[in-house]
Amino acid sequence: MFLNELKIFPEAMRESARWVVKTREDRLAAWRRGESYPSLSLSDRRAWLEEFHPDYRADSCRPLAVGPNKGQWVPCELADLLESWPRPSVAQRFALSRSVSSESVLPARPSGGQPPDYSTDVLIIGGGGAGTTAAIAAAETGAQVLIATKLRHGDSNTNMAEGGIQVADQEADSPVQHYLDTMGGGHFTNDPDLVEALVMDGARVLRWLEDLGMLFDKYPTGRMKVRHGGGTSRRRLHAAGDVTGLELMRVIRDHAETFKNIKVLNFMPAVELLTDENGRAVGAVLEHLVGGDRVPGTVVVHAKAVVMATGGFGRLHFKKFPTSNHYGATADGLVMAYRAGVPLRDLRYCQYHPTGIAYPESKLGLLITEKFRGWGAQLLNRHGDEFVFGLEPRDVTSAAIIRECTELGNGVTTPSGRVGVWLDIPLIDLLHGRGTIEREFPGRFREFLRKGIDLRNAPVLTYPTIHYQNGGIVIQADGGTDMPGLFAAGEVTGGVHGDNRLMGNALLEILVFGLRAGKGAAHFARSIGEGSRPGVSHLEAFMEELDGVDPEQHRTAPRLLPSYGKSDTST
Ligand code: FUM
Repeated sequence: MFLNELKIFPEAMRESARWVVKTREDRLAAWRRGESYPSLSLSDRRAWLEEFHPDYRADSCRPLAVGPNKGQWVPCELADLLESWPRPSVAQRFALSRSVSSESVLPARPSGGQPPDYSTDVLIIGGGGAGTTAAIAAAETGAQVLIATKLRHGDSNTNMAEGGIQVADQEADSPVQHYLDTMGGGHFTNDPDLVEALVMDGARVLRWLEDLGMLFDKYPTGRMKVRHGGGTSRRRLHAAGDVTGLELMRVIRDHAETFKNIKVLNFMPAVELLTDENGRAVGAVLEHLVGGDRVPGTVVVHAKAVVMATGGFGRLHFKKFPTSNHYGATADGLVMAYRAGVPLRDLRYCQYHPTGIAYPESKLGLLITEKFRGWGAQLLNRHGDEFVFGLEPRDVTSAAIIRECTELGNGVTTPSGRVGVWLDIPLIDLLHGRGTIEREFPGRFREFLRKGIDLRNAPVLTYPTIHYQNGGIVIQADGGTDMPGLFAAGEVTGGVHGDNRLMGNALLEILVFGLRAGKGAAHFARSIGEGSRPGVSHLEAFMEELDGVDPEQHRTAPRLLPSYGKSDTST
């Protein structure tokens, strides 16, 4: 059955793909008997994580040498970035006493007392899901809002989210159950107050999305379709096919455009926060992303409150892993907040999604949504055998795949030497009826068909891919940070997910905390008077500390875009 379809695979992989087909009938029969692959015990989960998860290895992390989290361990690549110098554009515009040596070619010009390029009530840094939601919430209070975004409004990980949004709105479910799943998924390292806010606001934001016109998957009766995600005890994943984030972003961006008091600056990433003499966040320095100068031109924005919503760090390709992330995910917000003295948390463990594409290589690292496993697709080794329950929490499933491919040598090798395990997607149509794959996964189905791979007939080779920044800026439940005037929301923040996020909680988080942060920032903006003196004096203290560990000024940050073509990335 379907053996002909396997000709799309190179010979080296075809033999193994045949085993997927050969073992399928037995696996199907087991499923019909109600048997599923057993879950791991808590002690096995721990043991596999410690031995095989990339970030549990001692040599993958190091303690930070400077800043508010000095002494805490984070992935080495992130530590390097957090211990970087301001960009040349900032050094030049603010005539920093320790300007960055290598690239600063234009004479420094003083900035003190110069009028800003823009003034606003609330500056939102980042135009993805969290930033756009925050902008809407702030604008609804009447505040003047400016969104500064690195690429185009909407270009973000939100756009790329596939599988769904978790909300406990079904009869057999409750926010309490959602809370327990989220805390368990995060190994109980999460901030309980933030998790409470997340689960309690869920039903309200789901209604908001529906009111804005988001097209969720529904039965003909109008009832929402819900599925399981990894590590969840109830079905609460609401989706729009396998393009949930794209559909979500469509409605919130359209909604944001209806506000006259929201202005958007595209291709203008923030590169530094502005602070005042009272230690408040009062704006940011932006850079023109598209410009001819060797030292790009800067744009200065003064604001009464700032919302950081820059997303995560996936495009930094830690340990040379591929990534599912969009091009702008380079940890800019972490860098800016950290050097302004704002503490971070839960950054030791990055999230590796178990099923990034391993073949064809033109799609390396891109996501094969967990929803496929929610519908019954099984993870198989090169013998066509299951080796893990597919809906363990993500970090555990990823560790299990790495174990299978490395220690046990049961991975499938591609012609270029990459390794992976099969995801038996055709099983879904056999379990749920012909047409299910095409209906439930329209995005990936069409995309693979363009590559000559019909997901109804052929399994897909997958391997863990960098997917999500579990931790980030410490926030309170209203989205506020330790710095007055600075709010934050979405992937740039930490505490909601602890050490490991569950599927579908990211789309919920950007809405719940985007709304809270936007409202909090607008409220803060109303409460303060005029007359502060924005500047970058916070950098002097940071640079002094940094001088002790990197006097040669090796690196500058934020990096803004991944450095493909250089030796530090893999794709
Ligand atoms: O697998 C997925 O669709 C990913 C969803 C998420 O990270 O929330």
